[in-house]
Amino acid sequence: MKKRIFSGAQPTGELHIGNYLGALKNWVKLQDEYDAFYCIVNLHAITVPQDPKVLRKKTLDLARIYLAAGVNPEKSTIFIQSDVAEHAELAWVLNCVARMGELERMTQFKDKSKGNAARASVGLFDYPVLMVSDILLYQTDLVPVGQDQKQHLELTRDLAERFNRDFGETFVIPDPYIPPVGAKILSLKDPSKKMSKSDENLNASIFLLDDADTITRKIKKAVTDSGTDIKFDEERPAVTNLLTIYQLMSGKTSEECEAHFEGKGYGDFKRELAETVVEYMRPFQEKIKEYDDDELSKILKSGAEKAREIASKTLKDVYEKMGIK
Ligand code: AMP
Ligand code: TRP
Repeated sequence: MKKRIFSGAQPTGELHIGNYLGALKNWVKLQDEYDAFYCIVNLHAITVPQDPKVLRKKTLDLARIYLAAGVNPEKSTIFIQSDVAEHAELAWVLNCVARMGELERMTQFKDKSKGNAARASVGLFDYPVLMVSDILLYQTDLVPVGQDQKQHLELTRDLAERFNRDFGETFVIPDPYIPPVGAKILSLKDPSKKMSKSDENLNASIFLLDDADTITRKIKKAVTDSGTDIKFDEERPAVTNLLTIYQLMSGKTSEECEAHFEGKGYGDFKRELAETVVEYMRPFQEKIKEYDDDELSKILKSGAEKAREIASKTLKDVYEKMGIK
């Protein structure tokens, strides 16, 4: 039997090339080898205020993005989190297993609540437990994510192990899959930060639907470091980040990338990088127009049915073990 993968993204903001290179690209690569579940996590989205109309639209848009990126509904299960009520139910159970101290250590909450916990929703604090539930419901073996989710994966393993210890073998303990290159694409404007959907500076990110002129302009304006060599160098994070994007989109090795730009300046480098990004995104941008709403809702409906089958078995087992049902 194939091993199982679960991953998801939030239907908020605009997806950027960090999401693509850190997560989506690997989802597509892994779907042949694994039994894959890719979820649109709309219940996570409401941990911060959302406009209901926009959220509904973004949820379907994200399904289109998965498909255009190459997630194949014949191979992988694509579904919306809220269509499978077991996610919220298991989250309640695991809330009673997780500890306050454990959640207080989560760095994403500290970032997202901007240090003002009293004003944050309880949901934002509890966000990681819902994510743990997403993963454990499907007896997941592997979770492909970017670097920023590593701590949440550690929590997932801890809660699964605790539950198994206290109530008997119930959950598979999942491993994270964090790509060796591209797990943390940085902001084009400030290489001390990751590229982020919620960045107020729109020039800091290349969005998946940016047109060729916008991509070229953003790369031209991207900050660089002192020094002129186009080389991977931890001390020069801005140029290393741009080279990483080039490496992943050109398919070259890091040595080939450095050799390719030897003796060239930032001007040439940025021009070629922009062309590479534009070409890399082109098939995706053409494909995204292909799916109409009817086709999409069929895919999501059958995805939810398949997901529910597995999720309901796991939840039943959990309730039985706990003396609930
Ligand atoms: P989100 O859209 O925040 O739900 O994230 C979806 C996926 O993209 C997650 O697996 C993240 O870890 C990944 N991701 C987000 N930002 C970046 C980034 N700057 N570089 C690499 N991966 C990222
Ligand atoms: N928290 C993840 C993010 O912001 C999204 C997510 C929710 C997720 N549930 C998940 C990722 C389960 C992997 C597995 O990127």
